[in-house]
Amino acid sequence: MSEADPGAGAGAGRTTDAHSDLYVVGQEVPPPSDVNDTLVVGALVVAGVCAIVFPVALFLGLPLVVYGGGLAVGLLALAVAVRRYFIAAYPEINAVQPRESAAASEDLRASTPVSDVRRVARRSLLGRALVGVAGLFGLSTLSFVASLGPKPSDELARTSWRPGARLVTGEGSPLRPADVGIGGVATVWPEGAVLVEDSAVLLVRLSNRRPRPPTNLDWVVDETLVAYSKICTHAGCPVGLFREQDSVLFCPCHQSTFDAARGAIPTFGPTARALPQLPMDVDDAGFLVALGDFTEQVGPAYG
Ligand code: FES
Repeated sequence: MSEADPGAGAGAGRTTDAHSDLYVVGQEVPPPSDVNDTLVVGALVVAGVCAIVFPVALFLGLPLVVYGGGLAVGLLALAVAVRRYFIAAYPEINAVQPRESAAASEDLRASTPVSDVRRVARRSLLGRALVGVAGLFGLSTLSFVASLGPKPSDELARTSWRPGARLVTGEGSPLRPADVGIGGVATVWPEGAVLVEDSAVLLVRLSNRRPRPPTNLDWVVDETLVAYSKICTHAGCPVGLFREQDSVLFCPCHQSTFDAARGAIPTFGPTARALPQLPMDVDDAGFLVALGDFTEQVGPAYG
């Protein structure tokens, strides 16, 4: 028998995997044990009960200690069942690795490699119960999906601006174009939704520069009056300052600046998106009104 063919003396089909150089020199098949089987069954019963208690408690909104405890005890019981089941499923073996040079190693290579050790034939019912309870437990963990809450609607993509909504001050007073003087700025909201944060708008009267693309010129009133979302597109702070001489809007949180004459595109700072422009016009009574909601997402991008 050559060293290149260690399995020839141990029977056909011998495995030659990473453990094939370990050979069994003694093994002890565990005797059937009612105590061990009882332990497995008991642990499976506990795990099965917990696999039901855990999701039910979660759905009923019971305290964390109930469903968390159910999950913990169930996992522990399942682990005990698996451990006890497999302790009785394989023989205790004593294996050694032959030395290259020792003559006794030739005899050793004629014995059974550890990869050929087979499990002990035992009650298949216990094995099926183990698989069943493990599957039940796996299914019960799907109940975590309910914790994700309802599917988000498109609510985040909308604000309170509607076609015809007048631009009003914090006191609810509607504004005419002439109410914002040259180089002036005002924070406004849609009529009926004053102080609703995501609808805050900066109304800006440019002085020494005329709006140009990417500003939507159809939404510019009097050729110099533009309206942009006040919510910074970086992290949502209110854009609060307007520097008239170069038409720059400034966010104080992280110093992003936006060019109010060019569609409020960012010119400095961490943000990468322009402030959305509000579609704006003047109604028949001479008040500033929105033509509709913003056409772009207000505030920080969320995907
Ligand atoms: S929130 Fe405006 S720059 Fe960060």
